[in-house]
Amino acid sequence: MAGFIDQIEPLKAAALAEFAAAADPAALEQARVNYLGSNGKFTALLKGLGALPKEEKPAAGKAVNLVKNELETALALRRGELELKAALPTEPTDFTAPGRRRVMGKLHPLTQVTEDIVRSFRKIGFVVADGPEVEDEYHCFDALNTPADHPARDSQDTFYLGAAPSQAPRLLRTHTSSVQIRVMKSQPPPVRIIVPGRVYRRDNADATHNPTFHQVEGLYVDRGVTVGDLKGTVEFVFRELMGPETRIRFRPHYFSYTEPSFEIDFSSALTRKMGKEWLEIAGCGMVHPQVFENVGYDPEVWTGWAFGFGIERIAMIRYGITDIRLFYENNLRFLRQF
Ligand code: DAH
Repeated sequence: MAGFIDQIEPLKAAALAEFAAAADPAALEQARVNYLGSNGKFTALLKGLGALPKEEKPAAGKAVNLVKNELETALALRRGELELKAALPTEPTDFTAPGRRRVMGKLHPLTQVTEDIVRSFRKIGFVVADGPEVEDEYHCFDALNTPADHPARDSQDTFYLGAAPSQAPRLLRTHTSSVQIRVMKSQPPPVRIIVPGRVYRRDNADATHNPTFHQVEGLYVDRGVTVGDLKGTVEFVFRELMGPETRIRFRPHYFSYTEPSFEIDFSSALTRKMGKEWLEIAGCGMVHPQVFENVGYDPEVWTGWAFGFGIERIAMIRYGITDIRLFYENNLRFLRQF
């Protein structure tokens, strides 16, 4: 029955044409139903097999099944193509469009300055030490040779925390100098530390004051330490921070935990930009023998120096910032500049 075999090829060609013409998965499914569904044209041909004479059946069956497999393969291929097409963007890609920028976080300018200070001191053998922000009067004042009637302890100047009358008064530390005492009490000399940290004072906020700010304390204790060591160290670090042509000078001053005591002024292109030759930047001095006594170091054997300065002040000079409050406002337009 040549008629049966002859029908196969045209039907195959028609089916393939319809599969190829299907523009989306729904149209393809319709085309599949038209040919391979239970009432489809190709299915009808398959059903006709049964009516063939017995001797023709094997050849016809083989031919028709071959084509059925071909059609199913073509169908799967086309389905894959259409699914891929559906997943692709319909708009063409504009390769000239600007990329999507990834917003990178940054360190706060005070953190950057602190890290720079720490890095400079590390180069010359200092390690970072730490202490509590909630302190007692002993570490903040008494052990630093600051007597009970000293104005720094006044409740006007200092944040005292509530405590039962039987308890030792607790307060927010007014300076990082308290950590000098904690470190010396916890280890024998020599000592070579810096202490960056937050401190608290009852100042009204204005362009140059804030009730919380940050300091760096330095302490060096060894045999035969001199003011020359102090000056050389301070000069090294400030040149790293403020530029190689930075000069420093010491002016006599008073601190109860150092003797002699000095204030440090520095001069650089940055101070001249602010309209001044010299700017006061830090307090320092040779550790007072009484402080050594208080921590159990023998003042006849050990000598040392200490200093303290404000991190905000360094950052303000370095970046030309005129209002300290900008550091604490978390305004991204300010912070992104650093
Ligand atoms: N503690 C002082 C202050 O808060 C700064 C200071 C001065 C620290 C002299 C020192 C020092 O270690 O020796 O103003």
